[in-house]
Amino acid sequence: MSWPSPLPSATTLPPQRSRLGAGLRPALGAVAAMLFFAAALPAQPEQAKPGYAGSETCSTCHEDIAKAFGRTPHQAIDKKRGWETKACESCHGPGSKHAESASADDIRNPAKLAASDQDKTCLTCHRNQPTHVGRVRAGHARSQVSCNSCHTVHQTPDALVARKAVNTNQQCARCHTSTWAEFQRPHSHRLAEGAMSCVDCHNPHGSFLPKSLQTVSANEPGCLKCHGDKRGPFPYDHAPVKLEGCASCHQPHGSSNPRMLTRHEVRLQCLECHANTAVQTAALGGVPPAIHDLRSPRFRNCTTCHQKVHGSHVNRMFLR
Ligand code: HEC
Ligand code: HEC
Ligand code: HEC
Ligand code: HEC
Ligand code: HEC
Ligand code: HEC
Ligand code: HEC
Ligand code: HEC
Ligand code: HEC
Ligand code: HEC
Repeated sequence: MSWPSPLPSATTLPPQRSRLGAGLRPALGAVAAMLFFAAALPAQPEQAKPGYAGSETCSTCHEDIAKAFGRTPHQAIDKKRGWETKACESCHGPGSKHAESASADDIRNPAKLAASDQDKTCLTCHRNQPTHVGRVRAGHARSQVSCNSCHTVHQTPDALVARKAVNTNQQCARCHTSTWAEFQRPHSHRLAEGAMSCVDCHNPHGSFLPKSLQTVSANEPGCLKCHGDKRGPFPYDHAPVKLEGCASCHQPHGSSNPRMLTRHEVRLQCLECHANTAVQTAALGGVPPAIHDLRSPRFRNCTTCHQKVHGSHVNRMFLR
């Protein structure tokens, strides 16, 4: 089934709040421009368009939906961007034929379209919002998880977008059951209690980091929004913190190990990389210096001495 574009040409919303650093803005512009051209190509000749019936007409038969719609943020469509009095048809396409026939065949129901076509319906207005710019490369778009999987247009105003942590978590957990189970482990961020949500760490619309990870200023991982003391810049960086990221030592969804580490003892965490191999001198893959007698309990707890494992302002060995 193919539908004529119901939209006048320039209906995009202005960019909303941005989570991207200034450095990304040129890329953003380029993507927006590409999308704009793609959308502009199949222009319909004006007279080929079937007629609009107007929202009043729709509401005579779809009274409940029309009433509920008046309480959602999308009621703004009625006052904006040339859709006065015909907001329903901004998503459903011109509906005069359907208004006469009352046949489902004569009206576009986004729920019955392929995911990518559902998304196009929404992106005609929402495409150049910064929160969506990473979408094409992210798991949801690639796996046919459409806008409508998470946003319900008709229903309560809350259903359009989950803002409370509890609601967001429920929404994500519906599909990501095994991830949700990870948050029930003994050491984890307190999502189960509703203190935080998945979108504190992930952008559901995709991002420029792997796994759709949320970014804070200058494209750093979103963890630093809350754990700012791990940000640095440190004169003495611990290489894996910067290069491999937090998840090289922590299980961010929860762990049976204290501090959400990937190993059950700190010592084993360190020795995973600083292991006792034949190489004699290097910090990595070498025997720890002679003072490290691993048979002595004193040396077992590495972080009693190497206190600043995330990076130090004063000591190359992270001793303080
Ligand atoms: C004369 C009454 C009437 C009017 C006016 C009317 N509809 Fe409908 N509409 C119906 C009926 C009846 C159905 C159920 C059809 C079916 O299930 O076969 C329906 C179904 C729909 C569906 C679901 C189609 C599907 O594939 O399941 C949509 C979307 C819809 N209408 C939108 C609109 C819009 C938008 C307008 C205004 C432009 C409108 N309707 C005006 C009677 C009407
Ligand atoms: C922002 C886009 C958008 C607008 C505006 C919109 N709809 Fe919808 N409508 C949808 C989507 C998406 C679906 C399919 C998913 C769903 O049922 O929520 C849908 C489904 C429907 C259905 C089928 C519902 C069902 O239960 O089968 C009807 C009827 C309908 N819309 C009528 C209307 C009417 C009347 C208006 C104006 C008052 C309107 N829509 C405005 C996006 C929109
Ligand atoms: C005709 C333009 C248009 C279309 C098409 C459209 N929207 Fe919107 N959308 C708006 C406007 C206008 C607002 C109100 C906020 C604003 O002015 O930015 C909005 C707001 C939203 C919000 C944010 C609500 C909030 O509280 O911040 C969500 C989520 C949303 N739309 C999802 C969708 C989805 C999903 C679709 C496709 C089914 C869709 N939109 C299609 C114009 C549109
Ligand atoms: C309708 C089902 C569904 C819902 C709801 C859903 N997801 Fe997904 N998600 C998927 C599928 C399918 C994939 C791709 C396969 C995979 O990687 O597991 C995916 C992948 C992901 C990924 C992997 C990263 C990537 O870009 O590949 C993250 C992170 C994610 N989802 C987070 C979320 C968050 C956060 C929410 C709630 C706001 C959510 N998901 C809601 C189905 C869903
Ligand atoms: C996996 C679930 C998921 C999918 C798929 C998804 N969204 Fe969202 N969306 C959310 C969540 C959760 C929020 C609230 C984010 C927050 O509070 O930070 C949101 C917020 C929004 C907002 C409000 C502005 C903002 O960024 O907070 C708009 C507009 C929006 N989404 C539109 C869309 C459109 C259009 C699509 C399809 C191209 C889409 N969304 C796909 C989950 C999703
Ligand atoms: C404290 C931050 C944080 C929270 C909260 C969080 N995630 Fe993640 N998530 C991550 C990180 C970091 C990764 C990447 C892990 C890696 O690279 O090994 C990830 C990876 C993923 C993946 C990819 C597969 C995997 O397990 O590696 C999915 C899917 C996912 N998260 C879904 C979710 C869902 C759904 C929620 C909410 C129930 C959620 N995440 C909450 C930080 C978080
Ligand atoms: C929205 C804020 C927020 C974000 C984002 C966040 N955290 Fe946390 N984190 C917390 C809070 C609050 C605690 C305190 C533990 C609690 O809730 O009981 C914590 C605790 C921790 C702990 C220590 C747990 C313990 O047992 O002492 C680790 C490790 C951790 N976070 C790693 C991460 C990583 C890695 C990321 C990014 C993938 C991240 N956090 C993102 C808020 C956040
Ligand atoms: C090289 C491994 C490693 C990496 C990479 C790493 N951590 Fe840690 N982290 C640890 C260890 C080990 C502990 C426990 C320290 C202790 O026992 O005193 C810890 C403890 C923590 C704690 C709880 C105690 C505290 O110091 O506040 C938080 C929060 C934390 N890490 C966040 C992060 C964040 C955020 C990142 C990424 C920027 C990160 N970690 C990267 C090894 C690492
Ligand atoms: C994921 C691998 C990895 C883990 C886990 C890890 N490190 Fe490192 N560490 C490195 C790398 C890489 C360097 C940089 C080596 C270099 O510059 O030669 C380094 C450097 C160091 C240095 C400074 C050595 C020097 O000569 O500058 C110390 C001290 C150190 N790590 C201690 C620890 C401790 C204590 C732990 C456990 C909390 C730990 N590391 C966990 C990879 C790791
Ligand atoms: C009692 C305090 C103490 C404990 C416990 C300790 N270290 Fe050290 N470590 C030091 C000191 C002091 C140095 C610096 C030695 C020097 O400058 O020659 C050092 C240096 C290092 C270096 C750098 C070696 C090099 O050749 O550059 C690594 C790697 C290291 N320690 C890893 C570990 C690991 C892994 C553990 C836990 C198994 C650990 N340390 C436990 C005190 C300690």
